[in-house]
Amino acid sequence: MADADLNVVTGAFGYTGRHITRRLLVRGKRVKTLTGHPDRPHEFGQRVTAVPYNFDNPKALTESLKGASVLFNTYWIRFSLKGLTFSKAVENSRTLIKAAENAGVRRIIHVSITNPSVDSPFPYYRGKAEVEKIITQSKMSYVILRPNVLFGDEGILINNIAWLLRRSPIFAVPGSGEYKVQPMFVQDLADMAVNLAERDENIVLDAVGPEIYTFNDLVKMIGEKVGTKVSLVHISPEIFLKLANIIGKLVGDVILTKEEVEGLIADLLVSNQPPTGWTALSEWLSENNTWIGKQYMSEIKKHYSQSSQH
Ligand SMILES: NC(=O)c1ccc[n+]([C@@H]2O[C@H](COP(=O)([O-])OP(=O)(O)OC[C@H]3O[C@@H](n4cnc5c(N)ncnc54)[C@H](OP(=O)(O)O)[C@@H]3O)[C@@H](O)[C@H]2O)c1
Repeated sequence: MADADLNVVTGAFGYTGRHITRRLLVRGKRVKTLTGHPDRPHEFGQRVTAVPYNFDNPKALTESLKGASVLFNTYWIRFSLKGLTFSKAVENSRTLIKAAENAGVRRIIHVSITNPSVDSPFPYYRGKAEVEKIITQSKMSYVILRPNVLFGDEGILINNIAWLLRRSPIFAVPGSGEYKVQPMFVQDLADMAVNLAERDENIVLDAVGPEIYTFNDLVKMIGEKVGTKVSLVHISPEIFLKLANIIGKLVGDVILTKEEVEGLIADLLVSNQPPTGWTALSEWLSENNTWIGKQYMSEIKKHYSQSSQH
């Protein structure tokens, strides 16, 4: 029988996974993490055991999940790079879900995205929908949480908009900028995940914050908080991507992908359900405006550094 106190969290030294892990430890659970960076420095000391993902060794992956009652799954990629495509990320997720099933895990708490669809033209959203389907067809009970832009201590998008605004009051917006975003506080998401793990029923829920912004208003609001009076310049998505590519080369990162820009413009980052998060981005930014955007946060540095074992 599964040990009720052992929970496995993917990416416990990452962003969402770290906040989930903090809460589980406070509740007295034992935590093991599956990660691509088992040697990454972290805050948990001996309290969290780290094992590599082992997607290419399903037997070892199943072994590492044995004895766990709940799997918190944050595994996904933001863009294809170095052979790790969205199809491969779906296959890795399938291997992980199957391994959890075979190991006797009771419940999976999975972090997805708002508006996933198997018919989506965007591989990110299509892949997310495929993974949701694998989960709903598994033997485990499930919670699927669908956030969009996450904000908090490692929220890359909000931080990097602030970083740009601290350097220039002129901000290029793709298209009209009238499409919407509904940012969710990462700690609200972690609270939801850990609370819903205690229940038994299957749940699929948008994890979205209490404020909805047009992209124009979001940028202006972030500017206000960091003390920059913003002038927006609206340009075509194609030119925006060229510009983002140039800045990306300068900072050694991918700022925004074509797919992310198109998803944003297609209003995929907003929900038609009532808000489930309670922390307002505007208030959080007022409390965190001394540091937000002072440093650029790099996705590439985070996931493709030397110690990575993906
Ligand atoms: N961050 C957001 O704003 C946001 C918005 C909407 C939805 N989500 C969803 O929320 C979940 C968690 O996001 P997060 O930002 O908290 O993720 P994260 O901590 O950066 O990463 C979560 C897990 O995925 C692995 N991973 C991420 N990128 C990878 C790559 N390129 N190659 C290999 N492994 C990779 C990480 O590996 P390591 O353990 O090695 O770090 C970690 O185990 C994801 O499913 C994401 O799609 C996030």
